[in-house]
Amino acid sequence: MEVIIQESEQDSCVLAARIVASHVRAKPDAVLGLATGTTPIPFYQELVRLYLEKQVDFSRVTTFNLDEYVGLSPEHPQSYHAYMRKNFFDLVNVPEKNIHIPDGMASDVETFCSEYEREITDAGGIDIQLLGIGHDGHIGFNEPTSSLSSRTRIKTLTRQTLEANARFFESGSPVPHHVITMGIGTIMESRTCLMLAYGAGKAAAVARMVEGPLTAAFPASILQYHARAKVILDRAAAGQLTLTEYFEWVYRNKPSWQRP
Ligand code: PGA
Repeated sequence: MEVIIQESEQDSCVLAARIVASHVRAKPDAVLGLATGTTPIPFYQELVRLYLEKQVDFSRVTTFNLDEYVGLSPEHPQSYHAYMRKNFFDLVNVPEKNIHIPDGMASDVETFCSEYEREITDAGGIDIQLLGIGHDGHIGFNEPTSSLSSRTRIKTLTRQTLEANARFFESGSPVPHHVITMGIGTIMESRTCLMLAYGAGKAAAVARMVEGPLTAAFPASILQYHARAKVILDRAAAGQLTLTEYFEWVYRNKPSWQRP
């Protein structure tokens, strides 16, 4: 696992966007795995900025999103379809036909999920999967004790996640209890995993992911097992790591050809 500590949230997002943009420049038909939540918003802003400056072109890119709430239509303002349109797809040139987001309204969820997996395989697999981390260690919506080899499927959210995500919903309107999420096995097949986390509120989760035991009780710890997992943190999110000095040493001494 490569842990990169940046001074600020903004620096973390600039670096993450630079990594994704340079990958797309090298492979214009790249397959990107995308995420939602608060964490990726400034990352998308930076990626949109690079697009507007013509430093990256998404016209041949294919995307797969991690998850969606069951029961929310793509038009629902709190759906991840709406989030993605607002924060990214309406602002760049990913062709509509190349965009994949789980369908929260699928009438046959199991068939939909196997089809989603098949589409990822047919697209050649995911090159870079963007990830955030939940306080309970979830990646995608793979809550604690999710099978470490799970595939895209329906999951029930924990009470903690429901409470954390209630902030996005109007007061009184319930957060759906079920989601469709890529599985941990699906995420682990991505060629690169790019995790972003910032703020002191994420420091305990980050420390468990990076330096704690590998366990399904804390799903993000599986990234210790991924051959190319990059974790980009601001100083606050790195606040509970014990190996900070080593991570900074490694990054400072990175050969120039390895830098994005
Ligand atoms: P957040 O969520 O970016 O809104 O903190 C991260 C996650 O739950 O994966």
